[in-house]
Amino acid sequence: MSILLTGGAGFIGSHTAVELISAGYDIVIVDNFSNSSKEVLNRLKVITGKKIHFYNGSILDKVFLNNVFYENDIEAVIHFAAYKAVGESVEQPLKYYSNNLTGTLVLLEVMRNHHVNHIVFSSSATVYGMDNISPLTENLKTSATNPYGYTKVMIEQILTDVAFANKEMSVTNLRYFNPIGAHESGLIGEAPNGTPNNLVPYISQVAIGKLKELSIFGNDYDTPDGTGVRDYIHVVDLAKGHVAALKNNLKNTGSAVFNLGTGHGYSVLELVKTFEEVNHVSVPFVIKDRRAGDIATCYADSSKAKEVLDWTAEKTLQDMMRDSWRWQSKNPNGYQS
Ligand code: UFG
Repeated sequence: MSILLTGGAGFIGSHTAVELISAGYDIVIVDNFSNSSKEVLNRLKVITGKKIHFYNGSILDKVFLNNVFYENDIEAVIHFAAYKAVGESVEQPLKYYSNNLTGTLVLLEVMRNHHVNHIVFSSSATVYGMDNISPLTENLKTSATNPYGYTKVMIEQILTDVAFANKEMSVTNLRYFNPIGAHESGLIGEAPNGTPNNLVPYISQVAIGKLKELSIFGNDYDTPDGTGVRDYIHVVDLAKGHVAALKNNLKNTGSAVFNLGTGHGYSVLELVKTFEEVNHVSVPFVIKDRRAGDIATCYADSSKAKEVLDWTAEKTLQDMMRDSWRWQSKNPNGYQS
């Protein structure tokens, strides 16, 4: 029996692949490398000592996906494959709705045809919208402010409805907070196309000299130092959270939702300072206007995952900053190095 990872060559998928293999699971990766690299598969082999079973193709292609399910005895799916850039989703909403929603619908149909009833889904803290107050608990009302966020809200709903209709189905929606860091080997990490949108890849590229300075989007928020506060979680902790969620999913039916965060918020300035201290590098910055759509503070109530999944994030902010930098400095051009 195997676990299928859609989008398994991406940032979170690849780290989850490592943790699943080390927990003894057989895995199959499906990826079309639209925002990832084939080199990831070589790196996974170095880290795990196992040849990675993978298929190059899109989950939008029903014939292709059916074939993957025919050729493998799939027990459960962890569904990472999706577009994820907030700004791009505002400019190209159809691209996001079409890929993220249709991809999920095709996947669910193929799963149904093959009587595969277990799915763990990559959702996001973005489903808490702008109005909820941190710490965020899973029972809060969900909403979104951009097409990317709406795809997460809608897919959570679709999965919940499917589990309600089919009593053999088991659905787990995982709401990630801000995943950063990299595997401690420095062999896999986050490799954004073009200029990074997210804070830590941007800081890393400033530190290595590829970008001149960091723009801090606002220092007049109602936070201790005025800059935005987020719940940054080490991607290896997040990957271990998937293993815990999968175990729980395989034992249950129905639908469940878990926050995967640390429960602690750190400001942009705290990140910059910690990155500089831990790595002995300099990160020049300028203060700019607030970025549209940003909120002041966002962090998880992570108690449900602890109680039900027996999982908590263990790595510190220092670990996250050190591992992000190790990945960046060993791979200045991502997987193209
Ligand atoms: N920031 C900067 N400068 C930058 C980039 C970010 O100051 O160049 C600040 C932001 O204003 C924010 C913090 O750094 O205060 C974190 O920003 P990120 O872009 O790294 O992350 P977000 O919290 O905005 O978004 C992330 C994911 C989304 C997801 C969201 C869920 O990127 O996909 O968390 O809460 F929807």
